[in-house]
Amino acid sequence: MTTVITGSPNQAPSVGTAHTRVEGREKVTGAARYAGEVPFADLAYGWLVLSTVARGRIRSLSTEPALAMPGVLTVLDHRNAPRVDTDYTDYTGPLGTRPDPTCAVFQNDRVPHLGWPVAMVVAETSEQAREAAEALVVHYEQQPHDVDFTGDHPNAHTVKGRMPAVTQKGDLDAELASSAVVVDSEYSTPEEHHNPMEPHAATARWDGDRLEVIDSNQGATWVVGALAHLFSLDPGSVRVRSEHVGGAFGSKGVRAHQVAAVMATTVLQRPVRVVLTRRQMFSLAGYRSPTTQRVRLGADTDGRLRALEHNAVSLTSTVHEFVEPSAKLARVMYDADAHHTANRVVPLDVPTPTWMRAPGEAPGSFALEAALDELAEKCGIDPIELRLRNEPDKGPVSGLPFAGRNLPACFQEGARRFGWTDRDPRPGLRRDGRWLLGTGTAAAAYPSSAAPSTATATAHPDGTYTVRISAADIGTGARTALTLVAADTLQIPVERVRMRIGDSDFGPATIAGGSMGTRSWSWAVKAAAERLRERLAHGADVPPEGLTVRSDTSEAIGALAPAERHTFGAQFAEVAVDVTTGEVRVRRMLGIFAAGRIVNPLTARNQLLGGMIWGISMALHEEAVRDPASGGHVGADLASYHVATHADVPRIEADWIEDTDLDDPIGIKGIGEIGIVGAAAAIANAIWHATGIRHRSLPIRPDSVL
Ligand code: MOS
Repeated sequence: MTTVITGSPNQAPSVGTAHTRVEGREKVTGAARYAGEVPFADLAYGWLVLSTVARGRIRSLSTEPALAMPGVLTVLDHRNAPRVDTDYTDYTGPLGTRPDPTCAVFQNDRVPHLGWPVAMVVAETSEQAREAAEALVVHYEQQPHDVDFTGDHPNAHTVKGRMPAVTQKGDLDAELASSAVVVDSEYSTPEEHHNPMEPHAATARWDGDRLEVIDSNQGATWVVGALAHLFSLDPGSVRVRSEHVGGAFGSKGVRAHQVAAVMATTVLQRPVRVVLTRRQMFSLAGYRSPTTQRVRLGADTDGRLRALEHNAVSLTSTVHEFVEPSAKLARVMYDADAHHTANRVVPLDVPTPTWMRAPGEAPGSFALEAALDELAEKCGIDPIELRLRNEPDKGPVSGLPFAGRNLPACFQEGARRFGWTDRDPRPGLRRDGRWLLGTGTAAAAYPSSAAPSTATATAHPDGTYTVRISAADIGTGARTALTLVAADTLQIPVERVRMRIGDSDFGPATIAGGSMGTRSWSWAVKAAAERLRERLAHGADVPPEGLTVRSDTSEAIGALAPAERHTFGAQFAEVAVDVTTGEVRVRRMLGIFAAGRIVNPLTARNQLLGGMIWGISMALHEEAVRDPASGGHVGADLASYHVATHADVPRIEADWIEDTDLDDPIGIKGIGEIGIVGAAAAIANAIWHATGIRHRSLPIRPDSVL
């Protein structure tokens, strides 16, 4: 037995200092293995066959010709696939959500949308599986479908979910009638799709009586829970590993491909890999619903809000209700004597939408913050001043106190750095050759919460430490941030910490989602590391295999008193609009955020910039178009679905002001989603300032700009 070299209280803190990604070298040298790359002996490959009709039943599906093709091992469909348990009475998904039953594939002959998995061919090679899948003939009994989303669709209804669908305070009509200035505008945002660099992929195998799935996901605990429920397994007999994840932002939960892979490995008793193609992701990965939103604002001439109404409509599938809650943001941002918000959904014959970065807040902030800009124009008040005049001192709907609301400070710092102060508010006045120039701003907010997680910390005889937590680093830099938190708790340099993540065997942990991953995991890591430090300080011996302690869930939950807890931000954009072609170039962007204590400035900046760039993409490029005749997409690929590329991204800066959450053991609030909130509105507002034309429909494309 050796005594470990414990930490020193004189060790300089790591949290708050820039640190490159701990797995960066592995990633750039190709040593990092992703879910579709981990080698297995005797691996078989599944290829999903997707429906070509938008609604109906499978009438016939002849598998014999496919089975006779080279290398084909089996074809799974609704007649022969293992049955799964889709009774979710006693099961909830992450963060209390109801699970989307659409991942339970091959259970019946119904087709609820185009691109629904109707079969899977499994073969010796991926190419053989694909060839047989493409040769498979499926006949359908086709039924009429409806994929036509409109805000006034007859089937639009108030949502049923756990979040309040409707909030109402005061007499809206009376306050609007007595308002000196009224804005009444309709906004729309399109269907937007997840396109992480790494497509969804899973490899499943039985290891004795344990099921192992190598997967690309946002939370191994989540996938374990869902697979255990579907296949009626003890969660302890399911292991999900996902050390490296090549991007995700709401789409990498439990989806058809993992379930199909588990079915196939169960039938064949050999490892099976299922990878989605980019095209398949358009119907199987989830997406952001299109929205239509109506915002009505009534104000006195000094800009003080008397009435605020935000009504949002999104779509969902016919099999599951998912809500893009765009009207939620208004409940936090601004108060008014009469304050009404409502989220409604229209069920259509389409895939179920899902979370996408700042679900609700991203499209909601476009409408709300563009409406505020319209009100500023009508009142003749600077848009920043208008927002400052409407700063609430408590939650406009909840009545709860704000646990920190540093929005004014963000605007103050942003205005100074962006050069807002001398801005002439009149539109259409500034020219640079053939370009019209304008600037715009918008506010941002995103909830700050946490969920239970556990971690272990191990001291080794050589003075190094290993911390294990089933966290997912989806590109956020979470693994590096957790390394810094562990190092500070143990009072050692970061080089002495090994951070292991992405393995459900490390114990339950929450998802990378809702901007709460790094924060929640930090609590668990800190708790485990503190307990280990205490043990060592009391002279505990470190055996050759190391001394390991585990944090328990209760100490990691902590106690956050009821309050309005959010991050805030101020977005600024300068655009140039080509008066001949209608091309919009974003010339500059600046985001200043109040987002709690920043653990690693380097990766935090990446996160915030990533959100802002997605905002550029949302404002100017992204739109998936559905063909009402087929029910499918007009083009489902990166050639027709445009995302912002390097050439679209200008001088762009993200920074933050001093901010902390006093109730958080580290001071973290979470920064995953705030960067996209308000970004599209700032750009749309800048386009108005450049051209004098209001754009209330995204994306703002050259053909519609002027
Ligand atoms: Mo996020 S949309 O909670 O991955």
